[in-house]
Amino acid sequence: MKEKVTVIRLVKMKQEAEKITMLTAYDYLTAKLLDDMGIDLILVGDSLGMVVLGYDTTLAVTMDDMIHHTKAVARGVKSSMVIGDMPFMSYQVNADEALKNAGRFLQEAGAHAVKLEGGEEMADKVDKIAKAGIPVMGHLGLTPQSVHQMGGFKVQGREEGQKEKLLRDAKILEEAGAFSIVLECVPKGLATEITKAISIPTLGIGAGCECDGQVLVTQDLLGMYDKFVPKFVKQYTKLSDDIKKAVSNYILEVKEGKFPAEEHEFH
Ligand code: KIV
Repeated sequence: MKEKVTVIRLVKMKQEAEKITMLTAYDYLTAKLLDDMGIDLILVGDSLGMVVLGYDTTLAVTMDDMIHHTKAVARGVKSSMVIGDMPFMSYQVNADEALKNAGRFLQEAGAHAVKLEGGEEMADKVDKIAKAGIPVMGHLGLTPQSVHQMGGFKVQGREEGQKEKLLRDAKILEEAGAFSIVLECVPKGLATEITKAISIPTLGIGAGCECDGQVLVTQDLLGMYDKFVPKFVKQYTKLSDDIKKAVSNYILEVKEGKFPAEEHEFH
């Protein structure tokens, strides 16, 4: 069995230039498949809201939604590190509330770590959570919980002021005790600069190949989520086509009385 992935192992991977792999899961079966394949990190992302619950943004996702799905994921995992994504308004109000909600992910749901969005303005929350012994992953660049403030899902860090802020934010998160940082939709050059400037691993999504690891939404990688396919997504298969084909064959065979056949019947 693969060795359990820990925060210590992740830092070692960065030092040894071994790339880190991360994918999302929201259910037991997917988590088990990813874990069996040796994925390092499984994120129960609040992308749950869009991919599984059908919302247009992640803003409506609640702590109870996240705990429910994280529990299912944790039941399917043996070696990967399970990271619970803190939903909108579960950590922004103050550090005490952030710690209480982060604790729920570990105590009730069986996660090993949590993730939250934001830089300097979230440092007190990261500090409080990390000091309580809960590993915290940061998330900079395109932070989907701030979609309305950003004016849409857009690449971040192209302007000079933004660049400096992102670099500063990454250093502040590291100082506050974050064990790694997701960089979403950040130009490759800036992501590389951030990756070199900090000693904790960066996980890129739309941030180029120089990050210490990569993360994708599993349904994007599998070609299941067609509503919007961002430029940074590589569809390794087109599962939605296979599903449609299988379902339409089933419908046809049931209508025509061809399923169930002899071998599927009890006598
Ligand atoms: O919610 C999510 O799936 C994420 C990843 C895209 C990093 O935050």
